[in-house]
Amino acid sequence: MAPFNYGANPMNENMNERMLISLLADGQFHSGEKLGERLGISRAAVWKQLRKLDDLGVAVESVKGRGYRIPGGLELLDRDAMVAALAPNIARGCVLTVLDDTSSTNDWIKSRTGSWQGLVCLAERQTSGRGRRGRSWVSPFGRNLYLSVGWEFDGGAALLEGLSLAVGVAVCRALGGRREHAGLSLKWPNDILLSGRKLGGILVELQGDPSGLCQVVVGIGVNYGMGETTGETIDQPWADGREITTTGRNHLAVRLVTEVMSMLAEFTRSGFTPFRDEWCDYDATRDLAVRVSTAATAREGVARGVDDQGALILETDKGLETVHGGEVSLRVAR
Ligand code: BTN
Repeated sequence: MAPFNYGANPMNENMNERMLISLLADGQFHSGEKLGERLGISRAAVWKQLRKLDDLGVAVESVKGRGYRIPGGLELLDRDAMVAALAPNIARGCVLTVLDDTSSTNDWIKSRTGSWQGLVCLAERQTSGRGRRGRSWVSPFGRNLYLSVGWEFDGGAALLEGLSLAVGVAVCRALGGRREHAGLSLKWPNDILLSGRKLGGILVELQGDPSGLCQVVVGIGVNYGMGETTGETIDQPWADGREITTTGRNHLAVRLVTEVMSMLAEFTRSGFTPFRDEWCDYDATRDLAVRVSTAATAREGVARGVDDQGALILETDKGLETVHGGEVSLRVAR
C-alpha cells in the first residue's frame, strides 16, 4: 500500500496513522490509553495522530471518560478479500491495487509504465480527484468508491465515443440495475443519477495513437457513505449509493470491477451497439427539451436518445442532429 505523506518520521507515523484508523474503523469508543498500548506510543502521541485524521477528512469524536470513535465506523477496502470474491475469469484478467492515498486513481494508472491492460486501482482517498470539465471530485478517506481501470483498444479514438456511456451501463448493473432501483438513470454523456441527483461520475481519458492503438483509463467515482458534512462541499444535488444498497464498499467495489471488466471485454468485441438499448432504458433526458452547450456554442432541441456510436440525437428546428461527447454539458431547458 502507498504510505501517507506526513510527519518527520514518515514510516512510523504513517504506519501509526493507518493502524489508528483500522482500530477506530469499528465505530466503537477506544480510550487514549488502550490506543496507545495497541500502537506502542504515548497518549500524547495518540492525540497528535488523532488530530492528523482530521486533515484526512476522518472525523473522530472524543467523549470524556469514554475515549475516541469514528461515528458510524468506516468500512476500509480489503484488497485480498476483493480479489478472493472476484470470479476466476475476472480475477485472471485484472491486476488489482488498493492504495490508501493517491492524487487521482486515473493519474496513478497513467503513471504506470508498460501496458495498462487490466490494471485496476482503487483508493481510500484522492487528494486531487478529478471530474469532467476541469472540476474536482470530492474524495474523502474511507468513504465512497474511487476506481480506475486501464485498457487498450486497437481501432482509434472514434471507436471509444460510446465507451463512457457503456461504463454508465456497467455501473448501473453493479448497483443492481433498474429492475431493483427505479430511480437509477444516466444523463448523457456520463452522469449516474439517483432520483435526479448525482450519484456518480465517469472520467474516461485516453492516450496513444488516435487512429490506432489507444490506452484508456476508465475512472469511476460513486458516492457511498459520503456523509453529510463532506457532502456539503459538493456544488450540486447529490445522492448516495447507501440509499439503495447497504451491502458495503468492498462488495460494491467487487460488483463494479466485475461489471466494468465484463463490459470492456464486450465493448472490445462489439463496440457500443450491444449497450445502446440498455443505455436508452436509463436515459434521464429522453424526450425532454434540452440545451447542449460547449464553451463556445449552445444548441437547443428535444433529446431523442443516442445512436450506435453513443452520440446524442437532438431533434431541432432543422431536423435530427447528432451531438458528440467531449467537453459538453447537457441541461434540461427551462
Ligand atoms: C464527473 O465529473 O462526473 C466525473 C467524475 C469522475 C471521478 C472519478 S473518481 C476515480 C477517478 N479518478 C479521478 O480523479 N476521477 C475519476
